[in-house]
Amino acid sequence: MQFQEQHTRGQQQVQIQVQEQRPLGLAARAQELETSATLAMNEAVAKRRAAGLQTIHLGFGEASFPLHPILRTELARAAAHTSYAPVPGLPALREAIADYLQRTRGIASSAAHVAVAPGSKPLLYALLQVLEGDLLLPVPSWVSYGPQARLAGRRVIDVPTDASDHHRLTPEVLNETLARARHEGANPRILLVNTPSNPTGSMFDAADAEAIAGWARAEGITLISDEIYAELAHGWRAHVSPARFYPEGCIVTGGLSKAFSAGGWRLGYAVLPATAGGSALMAALRALASEVWSSATTPVQEAAIAAFCPDPELETYVRRSARVHGYVASRLYETFVNLGILCPRPAGAFYLYPDFAPYRDALHERGIATSDELARYLLDEWDIATLPGTAFGEQPETLRLRVATSLLYEPEGKHSEEEREAWFWQLLAQADQLPLSGESKTVKLPELERARKRMAEVIQTLDTAQHTE
Ligand SMILES: Cc1ncc(COP(=O)(O)O)c(C=O)c1O
Repeated sequence: MQFQEQHTRGQQQVQIQVQEQRPLGLAARAQELETSATLAMNEAVAKRRAAGLQTIHLGFGEASFPLHPILRTELARAAAHTSYAPVPGLPALREAIADYLQRTRGIASSAAHVAVAPGSKPLLYALLQVLEGDLLLPVPSWVSYGPQARLAGRRVIDVPTDASDHHRLTPEVLNETLARARHEGANPRILLVNTPSNPTGSMFDAADAEAIAGWARAEGITLISDEIYAELAHGWRAHVSPARFYPEGCIVTGGLSKAFSAGGWRLGYAVLPATAGGSALMAALRALASEVWSSATTPVQEAAIAAFCPDPELETYVRRSARVHGYVASRLYETFVNLGILCPRPAGAFYLYPDFAPYRDALHERGIATSDELARYLLDEWDIATLPGTAFGEQPETLRLRVATSLLYEPEGKHSEEEREAWFWQLLAQADQLPLSGESKTVKLPELERARKRMAEVIQTLDTAQHTE
């Protein structure tokens, strides 16, 4: 078979021609793999922009404040350290992370029970590989948990949540789901939760965290608590880790990507229970890591130590980042609820999860019956990029979207990298004056205003259609 492809390299057209003797065979589970919905949407928006199409990008969540100078200096200092680090991470970094979780979340652990990796994502995958049993997964949940569990050969058991109750997870629904799953022959042994949540922005309150931890303990279920957004609580609800109530059965994951706007550094951690079971789990994680990624990047690990040690400047930076995320999310949230869209009030991170069900009839009139069709309509007709609820495990006919607000702080128009950085530092300097709800008198964010206006136009158009039917 003859394979042909054309590429542009600089000004030149390059043609590749290969004679294929045998096609490359894909394993059955790889044939079902798709690029993560978030990355796919980001690529679609990049293509639209390259073609000159304006897009309001609410499809990709990335903390994009400038790197703090302390971390920049530490990384530069360590740049020449080219040796591999120990598989589970540098001892000083593991120690700093254990102290950090004790200091900030009341989670007792020790360096011996902390694993560091190139991002928390591979650690979540590794945990799903080495822990026993099938996965209980609340719906909606972050895009990668389900595919990761399936790649690890686990059954994924959806735990339904109620949109009218802010998608809260309750012991009652967990009990029902567990009974149903066992009846269907599954062996659920892991529950994965995420607080603050991507996609809803909701957070457990202390009572919910305690109830879920108590339920998991009573049922002998391992709890994985993905707390990558913990530092980005907006300020009206405190972050409470379920690990506080279930230290012997809860694993906490996190990293630098969100609070320190350093996703590209690829630095994540998992804190395991300080028990004999935790030690056995660490041995399994270490073995898996040694065969797959060896270690996280050495200079990044060295620089990351500073991020987890007490430092008033870094703490101010993180607190201010959280305020800006909270302000922007709450402004767009107000737009939705004022126009009659159901939406959980965001408590942390930079996401909203509006439900367009009140406009089902008007959407039907336009041939839109699923969240995929709704996301496509918003992109094609209104130049708004979002992600459909299906990417988060929802049934196709629910009309929910995930709206990421973290790209709405950008300055208007084209800017040099220096100008953009200066804009962000100025924004962070004003963060403490931002209100928890309502509009700031001083801070003006043009991209946010454009998104609010466009969303309001969409909803008003649907409203008019609904009332004239
Ligand atoms: C809920 C959630 N968990 C984990 C991650 C992965 O983070 P990391 O950069 O540490 O791999 C993300 C990143 O988007 C996320 O949203």
